[in-house]
Amino acid sequence: MSSLLGDRRAYAALGAAAVAIATLPTIYLALKATFKSKRVEGQYTSREFVLAAGAVPFQFDAFGTPKRVLLAHHAPLGAWLLSKGRKDEGEDLATAATREVFEETGYPCRLHPVPNLPTCAPLPAELVGTDPQPHSTRIALNSTEPFMITLRPIAFGMLKLKLIFWYIGAVDVPYDEASASSEMGGVQPGTHQIAEGFDEVRLFDIEEAIEKLAFDGDRDLVRTAVSILTAKP
Ligand SMILES: *[C@@H]1O[C@H](CO)[C@@H](O)[C@H](O)[C@H]1NC(C)=O
Repeated sequence: MSSLLGDRRAYAALGAAAVAIATLPTIYLALKATFKSKRVEGQYTSREFVLAAGAVPFQFDAFGTPKRVLLAHHAPLGAWLLSKGRKDEGEDLATAATREVFEETGYPCRLHPVPNLPTCAPLPAELVGTDPQPHSTRIALNSTEPFMITLRPIAFGMLKLKLIFWYIGAVDVPYDEASASSEMGGVQPGTHQIAEGFDEVRLFDIEEAIEKLAFDGDRDLVRTAVSILTAKP
């Protein structure tokens, strides 16, 4: 009797071990996929990469707290989007980012100096001399460096790679706490709004903007920008 019980226990243990071993490849593949999706290797010629830039255009209150985000509604996609686009030949990425906001929303946008921005960019030699600087991430003060990038294969898989550099922007529209999410004026002259299919522009409170945005990537950009802007030094 007791030996039968012992056998059963042994079988149960064997079964559990078999299940654990059978699961290992799945766990391994899942972990590998996680790392792989974050890793890009290789070299791309100028035929094979596209440089783009965009901004999260915030409306700040008088104390510099981010309050609202300016979004443009793209009629053909039926979606609220952050503004971004390819940089022009000879244009720098930061200029492209704010130009795209203007073209797609009709509202001028400037780069916002972020009080405490984590960055891997070294300080310029004029400030710190020529000694080598550590490779660790540091907190830059009042920086307008990009706060995020998106890497995206385009053209049927890996034939081309798109790099989108994201900046934190500010729109110069005074913040009025009393007004609900404000509808902005219609299409502005000198923009690409009509040509690119944008039919509505709105300043949404941050939480509402995150709800309205159609794509996970855009929501992640707003959340990350807000957490950087509101982090204590
Ligand atoms: C950063 O900007 C704030 C607000 O304008 C200012 O008070 C502060 O002195 C600036 N700090 C640096 C290091 O530029």
